[in-house]
Amino acid sequence: MVAGAALLAPERAGAVDWAKVPEKNITFFYPAQISWDRLFTPGRHSGQRRYPEKTCVGCHGDIDEGPLGDSLVDAEKDKEPSPIPGKPPFVKAKIKTAHEKGELLIRIEFDPGKQPNIAMDKEFETKVTMILDDGGVKEAKQAGCWLTCHSDVESMRWSVTGTTKYLTETRIPKSGGDIIKPAEELAKLRAAGNYLEYWQARINPGKPAVAVDGTILEKRVANEKPVVKATATVTKGVYTVTLSRPLDAGPGYKKIVPDKKYTVGFAIHAGHANQRFHYVAFERSLMLDGIEGIADLLAPGSGGGAAR
Ligand code: HEC
Repeated sequence: MVAGAALLAPERAGAVDWAKVPEKNITFFYPAQISWDRLFTPGRHSGQRRYPEKTCVGCHGDIDEGPLGDSLVDAEKDKEPSPIPGKPPFVKAKIKTAHEKGELLIRIEFDPGKQPNIAMDKEFETKVTMILDDGGVKEAKQAGCWLTCHSDVESMRWSVTGTTKYLTETRIPKSGGDIIKPAEELAKLRAAGNYLEYWQARINPGKPAVAVDGTILEKRVANEKPVVKATATVTKGVYTVTLSRPLDAGPGYKKIVPDKKYTVGFAIHAGHANQRFHYVAFERSLMLDGIEGIADLLAPGSGGGAAR
């Protein structure tokens, strides 16, 4: 199955004339252990007073990522108890999105710089991940990935082995309890679209990328047979990664339709990193065939509205 995907993927990705697609510069930064819970602990983050009227990207976007990475990559013990020597503090990426032949494609180009090999992920050198929301998750629009980032997730401050990303709505009490709601309540949340979807490319340079997709509700769960396709090439240290899937990928996947705004968040794990030791980007909006100013990422179709 993986071999088949590898054969198909470059051809599919190649269908888009990327030179014609607008490019968005997004800087990813190293977030250390600054979880959602920490940001909303009284006195810890002055941003909390104006959130959610002002979003994360609204205060920090395209200004603070570099300085945040600089201060967090070797921050005091309270924020970064196990710094990685020589880890670059941030990574600059160019992101393009398009739709073609009924698929949404995301292209992420970046140079991770000189990455120390931390040997956490023995299997893959690099992972590029996108989360996607269609308005089903309250606050995803304002906070993106941070909604899923908690202090009890494995490798975070109060690391609980086996705890992966989750949405606070799935816990009792909602304000960060550690009791998971009963299955029927989780099923209701899922049926109402209250979950995030994620797409991931797992990369070893020179080899076909391995695609993974899944959802985040009370935990992160990978789908057994991913619909998402991934490609990756590395040329002179620059990684070019595409992630794609059909606009309508069937049950369990969010439908991607015109005239609707989606929220996406991105992460890059470099240098065989795992878990929290990644670079992250603040939330961005995405729209098919959008016009400039309407969303951060516009995904044109060469047929001019072929998604309809
Ligand atoms: C109203 C503006 C504002 C908003 C909204 C805001 N922040 Fe901040 N943030 C700040 C300021 C100012 C700082 C500098 C440190 C401080 O004053 O807390 C900061 C600091 C941070 C830091 C570094 C924290 C540390 O301890 O070093 C991170 C990470 C961060 N913000 C992430 C976020 C995320 C994620 C969101 C959205 C959930 C967000 N911010 C929303 C203003 C904001």
